[in-house]
Amino acid sequence: MVELGVNIDHVATLREARKGTEPDVIAAAKICELAGAHQLTIHLRQDRRHIQDRDLALLSKTLHVRLNLEMAAVDEIITIALRAKPHTVCLVPENRQEVTTEGGLNVVGQKRRLSDVVKRFHGAGVKVSMFIDPELKQVDASAAAKADYVELHTGPYANARQDQIVGELNRMVDAAAHAINAGLVFNAGHGLTRHNLPAVAAIPGLNEVNIGHSIVSRAVFIGLENAVKEILAILKECSK
Ligand code: PXP
Repeated sequence: MVELGVNIDHVATLREARKGTEPDVIAAAKICELAGAHQLTIHLRQDRRHIQDRDLALLSKTLHVRLNLEMAAVDEIITIALRAKPHTVCLVPENRQEVTTEGGLNVVGQKRRLSDVVKRFHGAGVKVSMFIDPELKQVDASAAAKADYVELHTGPYANARQDQIVGELNRMVDAAAHAINAGLVFNAGHGLTRHNLPAVAAIPGLNEVNIGHSIVSRAVFIGLENAVKEILAILKECSK
């Protein structure tokens, strides 16, 4: 079965709206874990707009499932991540003006630097994922940098017009096959919902999806546990 990483950044977004303690991010993570999520995902952004350092420290000590830390490959965050030692770091591009992560990481353009970053994380026993657009050259560069995983950016598929959807899916199918051939594990994420997930979950070789905004949004209406279970049921159905 394709595994589920639940991104709980937007539980923290709601908390930070009042700079208080509610909703409790750690309690939310535990609900996701008990609902059957295989992994929790958080993004410690340089501007700390949602997840805070304390969230990372507490989650890395209290979770039973894997913790996946999305992060920019910058010295400040690398130091924090090496201390927290999550199961995986997912390297993402970060732009302070953006509402959410926009494009994939340009691994081609910074292969040498990213190889060094991968080496540092591997030295600490932390696996590394590259969040990339579904482009063969970015897959090749990720393999050359010795990443463990690529997470293909599903945003362009999620936002595609009706007549572009098949083209975007095919781009992912090709990039996924290329990644698996190169010895990488293939994950996917961004903009996925209960409606657009089945087509992605059917891509051969998919290991894991990371889903945040749509689960937290759905939780407002049906509760977090049910929102996680709803996505797990879709993944289970797709793996039959
Ligand atoms: N994967 C990565 C690498 C991301 O940056 C994000 C957004 O933080 C997600 C998955 C989750 O995206 P969404 O919140 O749109 O489900």
